[in-house]
Amino acid sequence: MTEVRHRPPGRARRSLGLLLSSALAAATLWATASPAHAEDTLRDLAAQNGGRHFGAAITYNPLNNDSQYRDIAATQFSAVTHENEMKWESLEPQRGQYNWSQADSIIDFAKSNNQIVRGHTLVWHSQLPSWLNNGGFSGTQLRSIMDNHIETVAGRYRGDIYAWDVVNEAFNEDGSFRNSIWYQGMGVDYIAHAFRKAHEVDPNAKLYINDYNIEGINSKSNGLYDLVVDLLDQGVPIHGVGIQSHLIVGQVPSTFQQNIQRFADLGLDVAITELDIRMQMPATDSKLQQQANDYRAVVNACLAVSRCIGVTVWGIDDERSWVPYTFDGEGAPLLYDGQYNRKPAWYAVYEALGGTTDPTDPPTDPTDPPTDPTDPPTDPPGNGGPCDVDYTVVNDWGNGMQGSITISNTGSSPINDWTLRFTLSGVTISNGWNGDWSQSGSQITVNAPSWNPTIQPGQSTQLGFVASKSGSTAAPTQFTVNGATCS
Ligand code: G3I
Repeated sequence: MTEVRHRPPGRARRSLGLLLSSALAAATLWATASPAHAEDTLRDLAAQNGGRHFGAAITYNPLNNDSQYRDIAATQFSAVTHENEMKWESLEPQRGQYNWSQADSIIDFAKSNNQIVRGHTLVWHSQLPSWLNNGGFSGTQLRSIMDNHIETVAGRYRGDIYAWDVVNEAFNEDGSFRNSIWYQGMGVDYIAHAFRKAHEVDPNAKLYINDYNIEGINSKSNGLYDLVVDLLDQGVPIHGVGIQSHLIVGQVPSTFQQNIQRFADLGLDVAITELDIRMQMPATDSKLQQQANDYRAVVNACLAVSRCIGVTVWGIDDERSWVPYTFDGEGAPLLYDGQYNRKPAWYAVYEALGGTTDPTDPPTDPTDPPTDPTDPPTDPPGNGGPCDVDYTVVNDWGNGMQGSITISNTGSSPINDWTLRFTLSGVTISNGWNGDWSQSGSQITVNAPSWNPTIQPGQSTQLGFVASKSGSTAAPTQFTVNGATCS
């Protein structure tokens, strides 16, 4: 066993808490008292919540030199982001000379652990190589440099990346555009241009705009919101908003869920992409408990919005976090401490995702009537069964549209390896997400993506597409899932 398992917080933990003055002492005692038991991982639990991912930013050196780090990265997370290895200065430190090995290695790790990869990041003002930052390039030159970068990087990893952070941190705190080299050279149009180019190069990837301090409704998130509306109006292929979420203990914005919802209502996916919650050091029991409550609040805000498709934490353990190097006197922002002990925040996330933290707790409500094992299942397992499909036109700009489809499992058995079929006349699908889309005339088929093949009873999955079209298009009249007609 490589991951240190604390005794989870529960009745016993509360009484121990009275006796222990430091988090370290508590960690040691929980670890010693921990019974070995089978349990769900964070990634399993997230998947059970509508097929969401729970991810982490990981980095090359510990992944290759620290087996504890590697084991946790592999087992607890279903999505990974390169913390630095896919940034421009890492990939192309000298013009035209590329270093792929570390970025490739993380892609290989993800593939061997059945993890999706968030590509971070194509166009950013920071961590640019000096040849680019100090090159004094004209707008025309910058456009060609950007195109070449997207073609080279997104082209190399086409098929390996679930979602790209196409543009990162484009805004100032007041909601105006950051005066980056891209903005200076190309104006605000650099953003639309980057998305169009990324879509051209990797048409199946989801394309995100990503930023920090946009968790609540504020000037910066309002600026982003206005931009996204404008991009959608222009038909720019943007599919998601990444809310980084570098937070401070006790300061989770009260409008977090509402803010996620307003972007989701535009027909976009939302992901929490870089979650960490820092504190003034030293860490104390009460700060760690507050941090646990804060992590729980963030996960709950995401779970409350069906299009919030996952949460990624920005690192695995406190020891390697970027926080102490950037914020003097602050630290301890992650789910594991420097010895890979699970912190109270880990258990809070686990519980928020539906995990049962006390192994002695009964798994179900004891007042529930027992199920009769001789009862026949209400629908055949794995064959579709009762389903409900909701179809919405998110945006229609005349010669094109964006649609959203929610498939809900209304039965009592999982729907495995689902295939959705429907007829939609007069459209040509140019991009579909959360499934493998194909089209033959007006017949549209969507197969479950490999990373989310099952819809559990009571759960749903959301798909979306962008299509070109001529004139008005009637909504499909019938949907089937694994051959069964849905209501
Ligand atoms: O690799 C060099 C090393 O050779 C040198 O000895 C050392 C000296 O300082 O620096 C090392 O590079 C550091 C690099 O991380 C790799 O560890 C850089 O100085 C350091 O600035 C860099 O920091 C990264 C930061 O982005 C840069 O902006 C952090 O690790 C990384 O966590 C952080 O991630 C960003 C996201 O990409 C975007 N959102 C905010 C987030 C946190 O800042």
